[in-house]
Amino acid sequence: MSELDTLETMVMAGVAAASDEGSLEELRIAALGKKGSVSEKLKTLGAMSPEERQTMGPAINGLKQRVTDAIAARKSELRDAAIDARLTAEKLDVTLPVRQSPAERGRIHPISQVIDEITAIFGDLGFAIAEGPDVETDYYNFTALNFPEGHPAREMHDTFFFQPNEAGERKLLRTHTSPVQIRTMETQKPPIRIVIPGKTYRQDSDATHSPMFHQVEGLVVDKTANVANMKWVLEEFCKAFFEVPQVKMRFRPSFFPFTEPSMEVDIQCDRSRPGEVRFGEGSDWMEILGCGMVHPNVLRAGGLDPDEYQGFAWGMGIDRIAMLKYGMPDLRAFFDADVRWLSHYGFRPLDMPTLFGGLSS
Ligand code: DAH
Repeated sequence: MSELDTLETMVMAGVAAASDEGSLEELRIAALGKKGSVSEKLKTLGAMSPEERQTMGPAINGLKQRVTDAIAARKSELRDAAIDARLTAEKLDVTLPVRQSPAERGRIHPISQVIDEITAIFGDLGFAIAEGPDVETDYYNFTALNFPEGHPAREMHDTFFFQPNEAGERKLLRTHTSPVQIRTMETQKPPIRIVIPGKTYRQDSDATHSPMFHQVEGLVVDKTANVANMKWVLEEFCKAFFEVPQVKMRFRPSFFPFTEPSMEVDIQCDRSRPGEVRFGEGSDWMEILGCGMVHPNVLRAGGLDPDEYQGFAWGMGIDRIAMLKYGMPDLRAFFDADVRWLSHYGFRPLDMPTLFGGLSS
């Protein structure tokens, strides 16, 4: 084999074996670059005799041409292969279904749902919403609500107290939503018709008690508000909330420092089926709220004259009525933030409860 043939075989083998454009470029420089093996051969033509040049000229130029063509062909092969590899690696299946949006995937917590239901019902009855702070003073949580100093009712609230400040006053986590009654009377003139949903706190924890829980309070103050009005409002609420046409209620005498007279309300239910409570039928009773006529001392604490104004109020545990309405057995699961529980018991974000659209459907 001639020297040229050996060189050609070698260069061509290298070109065929080049696995990427970088190594192919190195080969090209080694063969066709200024000092490349093929270029060196071309340089030898100048020193040859005319006859020799006549045969070697076309031979060497032919070699140069074939090497150039082989490199160009290999280059486009490698480029195509690189594009193919990228196309498979970065493949995007545009026919895949899109991921559900937060509006479809997210769930509203049953407590938020029930608060929305309650406010929809009372909003329809002409009530406004009021709110107050979770961290309260002893004055708003107890004293202004007619709990005398040292009265045993204070102990019954299992209050969480903060460390006292320099003046010896200790703040507390409100044990009920009732302090917002006082805060509202201080800032609004009657007629007052408000509901107060919010978080409340007591040192208590088991399957039906959580140290943080929710209440909704109601307050009506004007010149004529009376027990009959209160009974009607509460009955309308219970029918709308439990979505039943009729509900029997039982008002039992009770005691709260901030109301006189005070009552506890039971509603008729049927507990004969295990694990299920039905409202509006049956021969059982279930306590759902406390209520009464606002005590004159409470009106006074709110800056109102009890000879001119009178009112009624009630307070109800939201968590408990949510458990009853939606058949959730353990209160603690409400605050575990377990997405499996929430996707089972939660509500779709765009299904807002309204009286005309249906509260829970
Ligand atoms: N604040 C009471 C509690 O937490 C509930 C309550 C009872 C509120 C009677 C009221 C009421 O407004 O009139 O147990």
